Order: sequence, then structure tokens, then C-alpha cells
Amino acid sequence: MRPLSLFFLLLFVVILPSFFYLKASIHTREQITPLPEINKDVITGPVVMPQLGNATIKAELGRSSWNLLHTMMGRFPEHPTTDEKEALRSFIYLFSRLYPCGECATEFQAILARYPPQVSSRVAASQWACAVHNIVNQRLQKEIFDCGTVAEKYKCGCDDEKNA
Ligand SMILES: Cc1cc2nc3c(=O)[nH]c(=O)nc-3n(C[C@H](O)[C@H](O)[C@H](O)COP(=O)(O)OP(=O)(O)OC[C@H]3O[C@@H](n4cnc5c(N)ncnc54)[C@H](O)[C@@H]3O)c2cc1C
Ligand SMILES: *[C@@H]1O[C@H](CO)[C@@H](O)[C@H](O)[C@H]1NC(C)=O
Repeated sequence: MRPLSLFFLLLFVVILPSFFYLKASIHTREQITPLPEINKDVITGPVVMPQLGNATIKAELGRSSWNLLHTMMGRFPEHPTTDEKEALRSFIYLFSRLYPCGECATEFQAILARYPPQVSSRVAASQWACAVHNIVNQRLQKEIFDCGTVAEKYKCGCDDEKNA
């Protein structure tokens, strides 16, 4: 094959198609809005949702939310990195902003102001969550939970990380 026809062959079969493919994929990527830097105001801002009147739904939402929170703490690393600690702290504050029961969220934000999230370890986070749940229990005149049993109740396989 002559060098010139080899050049055109390569141009049409390899070079041009890959150029247009790359151009298209860069274009698609540009259309995805990048995540903004989350600033402190976003993390610690005010409650978003309105009042949730229905007591049945409020209680059901509460049970599933506490289960999520306690299970999250029960599986949080025993020795978290700085990044992991900050992720959990931000999550808790954002959870308090976005909790779907507005009046509950307002109360919870007041609790957070007095009892800031403890994120230094699994034990610290679990005990903190148990304590704030007990504050809510107290306000709703429910039984106080024994926080000594919280690791057992929400361990979800954490004793054996390989099977978790
Ligand atoms: C952040 C938040 C704020 C809330 N604020 C309000 C509010 O202002 N008004 C309102 O009416 N409802 C509120 N709720 C809902 C309320 O806390 C209950 O979830 C709901 O009333 C159902 O109660 P329950 O008796 O089924 O048990 P829940 O309190 O939902 O607890 C579920 C189970 O968790 C276990 N448990 C109990 N205490 C603890 C603890 N301290 N640590 C670990 N495990 C525990 C027990 O096994 C219990 O059965 C809130 C829920 C959340 C998550
Ligand atoms: C609350 O919600 C439940 C479940 O959707 C419903 O059965 C019940 O009728 C509602 N109660 C009121 C007072 O609206």
C-alpha cells in the first residue's frame, strides 16, 4: 500500500472517529453540573420541610429513621479518618435540616445545638445517637433506653467485619 493511501485509511478509520467520539464524551460530561463546594451555611442552615401533621406517619418515619441512624453509628469505623468524621458530622447536620417532619427537625436542631455530634469513633457516635434519642424519648414521655445495650442491639455483623 502506498504511504498516502495508508494515511487516508488511518485518517478515516481511526483518527476521525476517535476525535468525534472524544468530543462527544467531553460534551456529555460538561452537561453534568459539577457538585458545588458545600459551605457551612448549607450544612447548618434552617429546617427545610413543613409540619407533618399525621401522627401515624410521624411515628413510622421516626422508627425507620432511628433505625437508620443507630445502624449507621453501629457500623461507623472504630478509627475513622478525618474525612469520615467530617462526612458523618455533615450528614447529621444535613439530616436535621432535611428531616421530613418539620416540627421534629426544629426540635432536633435545638438538641444538636446543646449536644453537638460526636464523631471521633464508632463508640462515641453510637453513644451520642443513643443519648439524643433518649432526649427525644424524654420529651415524648417514652421509656429511657439503656445505652449500655446499644452496641449489641445495632451491631448488624460489625463484630465480624468480613461477614458484615
Ligand atoms: C430526629 C428525630 C426527631 C423526632 N422528633 C419528634 C417530635 O418532635 N415529635 C414526635 O412526635 N416524634 C418525633 N420523632 C419520632 C419519635 O422519636 C419516635 O420515633 C416515634 O414516636 C415512634 O416511637 P416508638 O415508641 O415506636 O420508638 P422509637 O423512639 O421510634 O424507637 C424505636 C426503637 O428504638 C429503640 N430505642 C429507643 N430508644 C433508643 C435509644 N435511646 N437508643 C437506641 N435505641 C433506642 C427501641 O427498641 C425502640 O422500640 C422524632 C424522630 C427522629 C428520628
Ligand atoms: C394518617 O395516615 C394514615 C396512613 O396513611 C391514614 O390511615 C390515616 O387516616 C391518617 N390520619 C389522619 C388523621 O389523617
